[in-house]
Amino acid sequence: MVESSVIDTLRRFAKEAALRAYVPYSSQPRAALVLLSDGDWICGVRIENASYPLVIPALRSALVRAVMTGREDIAAVILSAPAKAEESFTILQSVTPPIEQLEEDFFGTPGFTYRIRTQLTMCRHVTEPINPHTGIRLARRAAAYARTSESDFPVGAIAVTDNFQYFQGANIERPDWTRILCAERAAIAAAVSAGVSNIESVYVSCLKSAVATPCGACRQVLYEIAPESVIWMDRGSQAPECFRTEDLLPRAFSLANRSRTSSRCTIGN
Ligand code: THU
Repeated sequence: MVESSVIDTLRRFAKEAALRAYVPYSSQPRAALVLLSDGDWICGVRIENASYPLVIPALRSALVRAVMTGREDIAAVILSAPAKAEESFTILQSVTPPIEQLEEDFFGTPGFTYRIRTQLTMCRHVTEPINPHTGIRLARRAAAYARTSESDFPVGAIAVTDNFQYFQGANIERPDWTRILCAERAAIAAAVSAGVSNIESVYVSCLKSAVATPCGACRQVLYEIAPESVIWMDRGSQAPECFRTEDLLPRAFSLANRSRTSSRCTIGN
């Protein structure tokens, strides 16, 4: 029998976390709380995008954050709102070790004694602005968490705020490939899930390529969440390269410009 007061408390935490969701398109804030076996817990929020298929679902934000703390001992998932049928299926597919749907917003391990300990926020502080040298060192360190069963191509990233906080990300791969999240988006998911909206720069480290740049999907998500940010790209021994996010995605499709009416395109002779 599940101790309902524990689950109710976690439901409350999940609902509070949902306030941090980025949902300008649906206006339906969503968060997922991942409860680890020792009672530590971590929240992830839904992060929408003008390109709808690039949405980062709340559970994916939470799971990536858990992996970035070196934790995968998931005992339960609590949602801020009831799961739709299709969503329930995805949740059950996404979590290892296996959990079962016990209620419409609660997926767990039958017979497990749940408890609540500490929230893992993943936010790290430094005492002064992060310079390129430090940023790249931290992005390289984040790459240690990468899960690259499919590509053997680890990437690390950090998202840095204007008040000296940073959030780590790494590419976390899944056998089905559709649920892989790149390092840059993992770092953004961690930052937004922690309520941060002032990402100033993103450092990306990719030591297995001499020419890598952020992928198109990451550019689109970065443009949506931090259009004025800069991206530092580390490829090992060569000097890092710096880009402005807006330069990486000229004529971007975004919340601001998608509703702008355009004059009809005329095809010339
Ligand atoms: N990857 C990133 O993490 N960031 C990028 O900008 C490019 C690609 C990851 C995705 C996948 O896990 C692996 O690199 C191979 O493409």
